Amino acid sequence: MELPRIFTIRERNHRIHNPFTPEKFATLGAALRLPAGSTVLDLASGSGEMLCTWAREHGFTGTGVDISTLFTEQARARAVELGVADRVAFVHDDAAGYVSDQPVDLAACVGATWIGGGVPGTVELLTRSLRPGGMMLVGEPYWRRAVPDEETARACLASGSADFLLLPELIEQFGDLGCDVVEMVLADQDSWDRYQAAQWLTMRRWLDANPDDEMAGEIRIELTVEPARYARYQREYLGWGVFALMRR
Ligand SMILES: C[S@@+](CC[C@H](N)C(=O)[O-])C[C@H]1O[C@@H](n2cnc3c(N)ncnc32)[C@H](O)[C@@H]1O
Repeated sequence: MELPRIFTIRERNHRIHNPFTPEKFATLGAALRLPAGSTVLDLASGSGEMLCTWAREHGFTGTGVDISTLFTEQARARAVELGVADRVAFVHDDAAGYVSDQPVDLAACVGATWIGGGVPGTVELLTRSLRPGGMMLVGEPYWRRAVPDEETARACLASGSADFLLLPELIEQFGDLGCDVVEMVLADQDSWDRYQAAQWLTMRRWLDANPDDEMAGEIRIELTVEPARYARYQREYLGWGVFALMRR
């Protein structure tokens, strides 16, 4: 049970493993208008930045679950650094099927809906941990504009255009699942750059330090082709946002 190494090579210096900035997470945390003491379950919590900063800023308590050993260690270290280690815990585990012992006020899956087999399954999974009247957060890509062909979709790292919806359609899908969309904060191209472009320097530094590693060839190719691919396709076509949902 471990995240493939390619991700930890690319994102080892990231605090946020999504096209979000600290400012966008701060905006979202305030927008939810939840009281101090609110309990949170964060499935696929990465390096724990959302949970740790919200514990500090809003007095939330909670648990993050992630399959990456490195990211989980980083999350625990961040909790100590921000002085919230008594309020948050990070569990190294598979989040697929993970349900909290006690119902929580806020159940989140920000950027990993594959753990529920897609958006509907993830909403269902989060609902199982949620107290009645609680709130869910789902982070999910969408098409900023319709892709002209399947090749473009694949160049956005989708398996095809059907992987994602346009933003209004994604919002309607949440409605079809019986949820009100009560808030959203969206990535923009600058916040995408903080996620994607920040990986290029990390890869370059890693390559310089690890020229004989078995993954050096793969990382070399990626660093060569990735910036133009990203600029040509993903930056133009792929949106991403976090949607706050409440069951109707
Ligand atoms: C796009 S990142 C998002 C991380 C975090 N939510 C954030 O915003 O920084 C996806 C995360 O999902 C984790 N992950 C992937 N598959 C998982 C699984 N089956 N169970 C738990 N975590 C998983 C990865 O380790 C990674 O941290």
